[in-house]
Amino acid sequence: MTESRVALITGSSSGIGAAIARRLTAEGIRVVINSARSEQAGRELAAELPGALYVQGDVSDLADARRIVATAVEAHGRLDILVNNAGRTRFIPLDDLDAADADAWRDIFEVNVLGTWQMVTAAAPHLRKSGAASIVNISSVSATRALGSSVPYAVSKAAVNHMTRLLAAQLGPAVRVNAVAPGLIETPWYDGAEEVWESSREWITANTPLRRVGTPEDVAEATLYLVNAAYTTGDVLTVDGGRHVV
Ligand SMILES: NC(=O)c1ccc[n+]([C@@H]2O[C@H](COP(=O)([O-])OP(=O)(O)OC[C@H]3O[C@@H](n4cnc5c(N)ncnc54)[C@H](OP(=O)(O)O)[C@@H]3O)[C@@H](O)[C@H]2O)c1
Repeated sequence: MTESRVALITGSSSGIGAAIARRLTAEGIRVVINSARSEQAGRELAAELPGALYVQGDVSDLADARRIVATAVEAHGRLDILVNNAGRTRFIPLDDLDAADADAWRDIFEVNVLGTWQMVTAAAPHLRKSGAASIVNISSVSATRALGSSVPYAVSKAAVNHMTRLLAAQLGPAVRVNAVAPGLIETPWYDGAEEVWESSREWITANTPLRRVGTPEDVAEATLYLVNAAYTTGDVLTVDGGRHVV
């Protein structure tokens, strides 16, 4: 019997990352759960999932990124899948140019862009040895449309999309690199931004082809598809209920 694959999912104590951890576990993949702050939630999820391990660490810190990967490889002896899901935003109206200051840009880019890059560079040597390796970056529909929680956030996800293409070109054939671009997904992401959530939810329910907001499980299903899609690399898969066509 071949040994089961190992997946490291950043930011998986909550929301989309937690759903990805559950979905990959259901496929027999051993998962490594991570978060920077919500340690208890991460440990509880790991205790619930067979073969799972929790590793605290901030992806925007290079030493932490290296330690997260090293701990995963030490525990399981291999790494086959990296899901870069950890993300940060600030809710700033897109027309409020002054509020999107240097601090906001740095804060968001440090996690969404630099954090993703640091996890990839730490994981790449191990992924190259896997034989069936895959990276999935969690992007956003705001990467390609004039919408989103803030301008720095949308631009950071555009950077993630292009990083996905650049990495696919460099890491093939050993490692495939793809991204999922979710639309509005019901998670704790919107805690403290209930007005934004409610108005977006109303608009989406009334105007988009599938007439509902997304669930973390919708994104997890697309992530699993890309993990197994042996002839797909450098692609961004939209999971937004058809919002991009209206
Ligand atoms: N919800 C949506 O509508 C939506 C739409 C498009 C894209 N996305 C993307 O989906 C991803 C997950 O978001 P979500 O909606 O599931 O939000 P969430 O429930 O708030 O989850 C975010 C996760 O990231 C972790 N995290 C944040 N900063 C981190 C860091 N520096 N290092 C490690 N972990 C970190 C959080 O844990 P701690 O804070 O405790 O560390 C948490 O586990 C994000 O990349 C987001 O941009 C979400």
